[in-house]
Amino acid sequence: MDENTQLANPGEFQNVFGSGRTAELLESAKPFMELMMQNECAVREVETKLNVLNDEFSTLYDYNPIETIKTRVKDPLSIVEKMQRKGIPPTIENIENTLSDIAGVRVICSFPEDIYAIADILTMQDDVKLLKRKDYIANPKPNGYRSLHLIIGIPIFLSTGKKEMRVEVQFRTIAMDFWASLEHKLKYKHNIKNPEEIAADLKKCADAIAVIDDKMQAIHNRIERESWENDADR
Ligand code: GTP
Ligand code: MG
Repeated sequence: MDENTQLANPGEFQNVFGSGRTAELLESAKPFMELMMQNECAVREVETKLNVLNDEFSTLYDYNPIETIKTRVKDPLSIVEKMQRKGIPPTIENIENTLSDIAGVRVICSFPEDIYAIADILTMQDDVKLLKRKDYIANPKPNGYRSLHLIIGIPIFLSTGKKEMRVEVQFRTIAMDFWASLEHKLKYKHNIKNPEEIAADLKKCADAIAVIDDKMQAIHNRIERESWENDADR
């Protein structure tokens, strides 16, 4: 357990809930729970939009551009830690203004061209605003990380009216995702002997993956073209 998550006094938790302050405590947690719920809703909205696109492609073209969709809402502890790192008091208002990755959606595609196609179609929808776009596929990070990152604005509809939410959407190929999962592990293991050597190996793998992704795309395009031409001949 991270030291920040440990209670100073293990009996404290029970004391707090055993004291007459339970109702007060739950009441003060409500705005935060509301924020989490709203982010859950935003993630679901984006996930539905992506599923609709995948279903449509499947019906029209017998082809699924999206392999997997993963969603997550940042957990409360990570939210507070990130605010601490930024040196900003973690009030609800500050959290909402500062963090644009509380709601996160990861879209795993088979081929690089599908990433750009789906990202463009999504951001062209009239209730979706493109707030930020970072193309780490065209401009990989020095460690070899590749993905397309979007921050989008999307409305959710509450009883009190419409609320604009921000969602971070990361697009990757299956191979880029495989790489990012392994590289992520390196960040959190501090007892590794030669981290520089592993980082250099990972960089080589990232570059090899980029070449293979492009080759797989070319093969896929060729199969699609030839099968279309053969269909047209018949
Ligand atoms: P933070 O949101 O504070 O991390 O900074 P930022 O807004 O500049 O983020 P960026 O868009 O560069 O990346 C945000 C997310 O992308 C991270 O939380 C990771 O999920 C993923 N990511 C970015 N860089 C890397 C990387 O080098 N390796 C891996 N495995 N994931 C990365
Ligand atoms: Mg970010």
